[in-house]
Amino acid sequence: MGDSKQEVISVIGAGYVGLTTAAIFANCRYKVYLIDINKDRINKIKTGKSWFFEPGIDQLVEAAIDQKNLIPTTSYDTAIPDSDFIFSCVSTPENPDGSPNLSYAVNSFESCLPLLKEKAVFIQKSTVPVGTGAQLEALAAKRRLPVTYVSSPEFLREGSAITDTLWFDRIVCGSDNTEAAEAVIGLYRQLEQCRGHIATLAELKPKQSNGGNYIITTRNSAELIKVTSNAFLALKISFANNIAKLADATGADINEVMDAVGADHRIGRAFLSAGRGYGGGCFPKDVSGLIASAAEYDVDMPILAAATDINESMPGYIANKAQERLGTLTGKNVAVLGLSFKAGTSDARQSPGVKLANILARSGAAVSVYDPHANGEAKAELRNDISISHSAMEAIAGTDAIFIATNWQDFLELDITQTRRAMSGTLFVDCMNAFDISDVERCGLQYIGVGRNGVVA
Ligand code: NAD
Ligand code: UGA
Repeated sequence: MGDSKQEVISVIGAGYVGLTTAAIFANCRYKVYLIDINKDRINKIKTGKSWFFEPGIDQLVEAAIDQKNLIPTTSYDTAIPDSDFIFSCVSTPENPDGSPNLSYAVNSFESCLPLLKEKAVFIQKSTVPVGTGAQLEALAAKRRLPVTYVSSPEFLREGSAITDTLWFDRIVCGSDNTEAAEAVIGLYRQLEQCRGHIATLAELKPKQSNGGNYIITTRNSAELIKVTSNAFLALKISFANNIAKLADATGADINEVMDAVGADHRIGRAFLSAGRGYGGGCFPKDVSGLIASAAEYDVDMPILAAATDINESMPGYIANKAQERLGTLTGKNVAVLGLSFKAGTSDARQSPGVKLANILARSGAAVSVYDPHANGEAKAELRNDISISHSAMEAIAGTDAIFIATNWQDFLELDITQTRRAMSGTLFVDCMNAFDISDVERCGLQYIGVGRNGVVA
């Protein structure tokens, strides 16, 4: 696998994972080809810019393009024969029945097969159901096109993608070929050497960390580790939301409950924040994908079906609470602030804020929406009768109720007195439980959270 300084990497899929991976390795002195079938995305990246918002990504893309270490292309023929390592980071969306759609992953694999140089390592970073690597290896064997395959799933979060990649908790490598798994780990050891420099380049704060774990395992375990991690995090959120409904019914405060529950180190506070539920391009489809792939082995996952049901109920639950307070939603002017699925990204896939806005509009409210980065991406998912504003204050003006659906810093720092003055009514719905109730009420607004201000039964 050669001298590490001369090694060449191809990254397939210029999305959130692929572009982040490519931009980071290209600033770690590797030569990196970035392949995508989407010409618009490749052309945008060639100009030194990312097609999505992610803190630090533009700085890394620009630096790597300037130094000619990042080569965006739509051509497998140019990139793959020259590459020692190939990371496949293509989309694995859900089919209409919730099962994983592996067609993009299979296509990218098949496109590489005849072009791989001897000893090249194909690394699967896309999230795939357990058993996928075995199927792909069997496909290669049938065609008599040998491949060295390592399953190394990705764990980054959008909004902190670069820091998560540089200061990873763990790198998991699943393979029958230990030498290949070690070679992949070698790339990350090299990254550990460069990470301070890359963080500075990205204008991000270096993270204090003792260094992540390297885990070598089997292909099947690696694949199952990834989907299990996401499913467990989703489960924690739905558990918190389920308890939040009981807190609402009993007058308990879910934030206080989860702070105390999470103080038990066996449980931990992370991912127990109740609110409008989880969204994004991963949790919803990875949970439904795990249910579907388990069913293929006759294993039921009722716990995950329940997590999905609770999650899907949350935007409607919040809309109902507002409706009860307002009497009716018909004819009310309301604003939804926050259309990305979480703060720190322009990604509006499966966005709870978008779902909430659509429910409110369907219930007869006149809805205005605003997001600092996701107005464009959310547009296609929003009902036509919803108006998109250019600022929070424009969205808020003249409304009976406002809903904070994503905790962007801009929203957390809203001047509540000014907000109250701009509104016609007084309802403030904190869908993320991020505000201090007394701060809101002191300004003359009525506060609704999720499991925070219920009436004692
Ligand atoms: P994305 O949709 O943002 O990007 C995927 C890219 O792959 C697209 O640009 C698409 O055009 C391209 N593509 C599809 N088929 C291709 C092919 N045959 N050849 C070349 N390019 C092709 O997806 P993403 O969010 O980056 O996720 C990629 C994978 O990583 C998914 O499996 C996802 O579950 C997983 N993942 C995502 C995240 C995340 O935070 N987004 C984190 C961990 C894991
Ligand atoms: C998630 C995982 O955290 C990553 O480790 C994983 O790599 C990634 O999915 C993936 O496989 O794609 P991401 O979707 O970027 O990352 O975002 P998270 O920070 O996990 O948030 C997911 C959703 O849960 C958001 O809508 C967020 O608002 C919501 N959430 C999160 C809650 O409602 N409550 C919480 O306590 C935490």
